[in-house]
Amino acid sequence: MTKYTKKDFPVENVRRFLEPGPIVLVSSAHHDQTNIMTMGGHMVMEFSPSLISCLIASGNRSFELIRKSRQCVINVPTVDLATTVVKIGNCSGRDTDKFFEFGLTPKAGTHVRAPLIEQCYANFECTLADAGWVNKYNVFVFEVVKAHVATSPKVPKTIHYRGDGEFMISGAETRKYRRLFKPQML
Ligand SMILES: Cc1cc2nc3c(=O)[nH]c(=O)nc-3n(C[C@H](O)[C@H](O)[C@H](O)COP(=O)(O)O)c2cc1C
Repeated sequence: MTKYTKKDFPVENVRRFLEPGPIVLVSSAHHDQTNIMTMGGHMVMEFSPSLISCLIASGNRSFELIRKSRQCVINVPTVDLATTVVKIGNCSGRDTDKFFEFGLTPKAGTHVRAPLIEQCYANFECTLADAGWVNKYNVFVFEVVKAHVATSPKVPKTIHYRGDGEFMISGAETRKYRRLFKPQML
């Protein structure tokens, strides 16, 4: 086992090691407006029902659209969309039609009015399950009510944000440790 030499590290930057999940694109719709935002702040809270919490800053246009419509789609992009993902996170739906600007195709969902992004590997249709943390923490707890996942490739090259403009791209997969799991932990 490795014995690491360590140094003090600023607590406000520990996110650089903890933000694990892939960067996602959150699409929303309210009345005749649609929008997309880039989001790293999500967490799986429960498997069944499938609950995901999302940190959506109140200054974002998406915040209002999602708060009012009580739904969204969580779309999982792959590395080929990385430039677009960053650009989407650097402009606002207040003055940009992001579907048009970035050449993305909105596709109708089956359970929510928010559009799926066709170019993303997976699309999770979500309805708001708990708004109790919205005012205090800008955290929306969503239930995934329908999931659409590409059949190939089996393991998508997702992108993971490490802060300071740095991404990790998902890499090697292994099932080497699977036999160590208790079945109920899988
Ligand atoms: C890599 C990356 C990750 C981001 N993660 C979040 C996040 O978790 N929560 C959030 O509110 N904004 C996040 N943002 C910023 C929003 O995407 C950005 O404010 C966006 O432009 C909001 O768009 P809107 O005003 O159209 O809703 C992130 C941006 C980037 C580039």
